[in-house]
Amino acid sequence: MTKIFISCALPYANGPCHLGHIRSTYLPADIFARYNRMVGNDVLMVCATDEHGTPIAVKADKENKKPIEISKRYHDMIVRDVESMNISLDNFTRTTDKIHYEIAQNFFKDLYESGLIYKLDIQQLYCNDCHKFLPDRYVEGLCPVCGSEARGDHCEKCGRALEPTELDSPRCMTCGGTPVIKDTYQYAFKLSEFEDTLKDYINNNDNLPANVKNYASNWLKEGLNDWVLTRDMDWGIPVPIDGAEGKVLYVWIEAFLGYISSAAQWSRATGVKWEDYWNDYVVHFIGKDIIYHHSIFWPGLLKAHDCKLPDMIYAGEFLSLEGEKMSTSKNWVIWIDDFVRDFDADLLRYYLTINAPLNKDSDFSWDDFQRRNNDELADVIGNLLHRTFTFTRKFFDSKVPVYENPSDDDLKFESQIKALPDTVGEHISNYEFREALLEIFKVAKSGNKYFNDQEPWKAVKQDFQKASNCLYLSNQLAKVMAIVLKPFLPSKADEIAKILSLSNADEWDDAKVFLPEGYAVKKAKPLFKKIDDDVIAYQKEKLQKNLNDSGDENMSDIIDIDYFDKVDIRIGQIKEAEKIEKSDKLLKLQVDIGEETRQIVAGLAKFYNPEELIDRKVAVLVNLKPAKLFGTLSEGMLLATGESGALLTPDDCDIGEQIQ
Ligand code: MF3
Ligand code: ZN
Repeated sequence: MTKIFISCALPYANGPCHLGHIRSTYLPADIFARYNRMVGNDVLMVCATDEHGTPIAVKADKENKKPIEISKRYHDMIVRDVESMNISLDNFTRTTDKIHYEIAQNFFKDLYESGLIYKLDIQQLYCNDCHKFLPDRYVEGLCPVCGSEARGDHCEKCGRALEPTELDSPRCMTCGGTPVIKDTYQYAFKLSEFEDTLKDYINNNDNLPANVKNYASNWLKEGLNDWVLTRDMDWGIPVPIDGAEGKVLYVWIEAFLGYISSAAQWSRATGVKWEDYWNDYVVHFIGKDIIYHHSIFWPGLLKAHDCKLPDMIYAGEFLSLEGEKMSTSKNWVIWIDDFVRDFDADLLRYYLTINAPLNKDSDFSWDDFQRRNNDELADVIGNLLHRTFTFTRKFFDSKVPVYENPSDDDLKFESQIKALPDTVGEHISNYEFREALLEIFKVAKSGNKYFNDQEPWKAVKQDFQKASNCLYLSNQLAKVMAIVLKPFLPSKADEIAKILSLSNADEWDDAKVFLPEGYAVKKAKPLFKKIDDDVIAYQKEKLQKNLNDSGDENMSDIIDIDYFDKVDIRIGQIKEAEKIEKSDKLLKLQVDIGEETRQIVAGLAKFYNPEELIDRKVAVLVNLKPAKLFGTLSEGMLLATGESGALLTPDDCDIGEQIQ
């Protein structure tokens, strides 16, 4: 058994997750983690939100908020998004957590004491109008290497990490003014001392994937400078040495340590040592834009600490949207939260995995998403499973039938089914997630063909054994699918496992054990549905419309008066109230709002008895989209406080009055 330390790159807590995050990092990491758990490896999968640094500070300045308010807001959204995509992290923490401060400061102190971090007099950009130094994203300009627009710390175009003073035509992000160069001091890491070690790590390491090796070895050819690890800023982890007052750790050095602090936090909670995982096998899943950091800075820091270097750095290439580069500032993006409101997360997991290998750029387009869902998931995988289950029910008394005197076709299909778990497993172990899923799809496709060729609907009458063999094998494939699809489509795989009442569906090897003849199969609903054209047309329209609204403003919690004008709140009176069966939270209410009586389902059962509510005046949000809760229609919402559930009781107002 191997112990595997899996990390996902820490997302900046300055926005929620979009398709790009999921494709490049979380989904591949999750497929790898789930598979490895299923084969019996011991997995520790961690992540955290990256909450310091200029990305959050700049956003906070714009909104006139404290950075921690911003990062908390997005931390919560990111957790929600990651959970909604079923990413099976063992721990997800924050770089503002106490344990992270401790670990980051100790790491820095150790290097300082061993002389690998030293004080450096340098010149940095300073804005005379804003009276501050301009680290990293506080400044924009042109990349000195490729000439494209770049931020102070990083050029997205050529992937290089930068110092703000290197930028051509720099501008202050806050006021747009031209900064000046001013003397100051910082603390730098002797990265240059590790040049040979890093060359050896990159060039003589056959495990690292080609894109990581190519980028890194090109950068290494140019030679390495020392790396400045501190900043003049308020927001961040204080530099833990005397004389460094007012300075904080550069966000990148401590973000890496988020991997460690998340794992250490998990260790404190579980009593299991994370170091054993690290020392056995470490893999970092990252986006391609941060290869530089992970192939050079991070191994350098680790080496300086005498730590084992990562065994694997897997870098997902970019995802574009409808053929255009994604952009959160232009709102050319699909947010996960929006996606999962309309579609099952597994459909996205399928699409993003099968559309292109991770080491190639990929594109999300609504038409293509619809095509793959309809032609592949619904018509091939879904159809095969559905036909299998309904036929078994109809002609074989809901039992796996008898397999006897197999034909050549049967034997051929049987061997395909038997080979599938190993083939898929091998691909996943080699980080070839698309190939693995394609393999499953291919076998499902040939399963459909086999099913058509056997014509069991005719054979049941003419050649019963032929039909019986066909359904025997189709059920075996269904069982294999319940297991091999699990890393990719965890919820759908669970649904298949339920239909087949599988008790070991979490064990990869169980895919090699056939269901016995006579095994009971439950009644099944179709697992995959086609997506209609108008649903896709609506999504495309929404995307275009969003493009015109600025994305950042949508995300802020400040609203303008026009936005509020849309909110229609009226005074109502509760006429009837009753409990909703099977729910300990919900009450079903009939509320008179003047012109009409509305049925509203409210989460008040913990706070009020139905009788207490009769005749109460309440504030009602009346233009909320109707929804069904526990199968009961709700057309509106009562205003109440969150924690104590206290209803707002506007006794002095008349029924039907609008709040403005
Ligand atoms: N927050 C950084 C980004 O989104 C990534 C940090 S990755 C870590 O680019 F390695 F530092 F964790
Ligand atoms: Zn300025």
